[in-house]
Amino acid sequence: MLIAIDGPAAAGKGTLARRLAAHYGLAFLDTGSLYRAVGCRVLEEGGDPADAAFAARIARALDMDEIDETHLRTAEAGAAASKVAVIPAVRQALLDFQRSFAARDGGAVLDGRDIGTVVAPHADVKLFVTASPEERARRRYEELKLAGAEVDQGRILDEIIARDARDSGRADAPLRAADDAHLLDTTKLDIEAAFRMAVSIIDRAMEGSVS
Ligand code: CDP
Repeated sequence: MLIAIDGPAAAGKGTLARRLAAHYGLAFLDTGSLYRAVGCRVLEEGGDPADAAFAARIARALDMDEIDETHLRTAEAGAAASKVAVIPAVRQALLDFQRSFAARDGGAVLDGRDIGTVVAPHADVKLFVTASPEERARRRYEELKLAGAEVDQGRILDEIIARDARDSGRADAPLRAADDAHLLDTTKLDIEAAFRMAVSIIDRAMEGSVS
């Protein structure tokens, strides 16, 4: 079984995708970590995330199996990720790895922005997970605070809005729900409720596909 999960920044896709992968016994790939790793490496090397040639070189040299998630969850990493993600050569460099992951024998859950539309349009079930920008800013604030970062909720909201605009407005693989995606608005749902809702959507979709 292949499950594609897309949605805007901090909508809760990652937590949900991890739980679904554990529940169904599937491998899990957080595709955002690939873009974050490229963005961070560009910054570490003193480059500009908007420099297409520089970012593409970093993306092509990225060792996907060596990504250390621990430094990738900062606001700076998120912003740099969405800048390199606009560059078609960066997206192309990361595509084969994501497609091979999606084709694993045991099945997989992938989360990102373009999984249901570009990486795995043939996925068995597609979820598009959203929440209001204010609720997403609140969640990201809690996440960063818990990690010990100095954060301001108003600034996080501005950054989330800017990142959504960049992700939705880019020409190559913009953030959008696939036509056959199931919408899951988690604004008023805690993680447990969102998980139960997702399981019920997936189980129903899988029943429909075998009968
Ligand atoms: O966790 P959060 O929702 O904040 O972001 P993420 O999933 O880690 O993704 C970081 C950035 O990578 C996004 O803002 C996108 O610009 C980019 N991205 C993408 O373009 N395509 C993907 N499949 C995944 C992430």
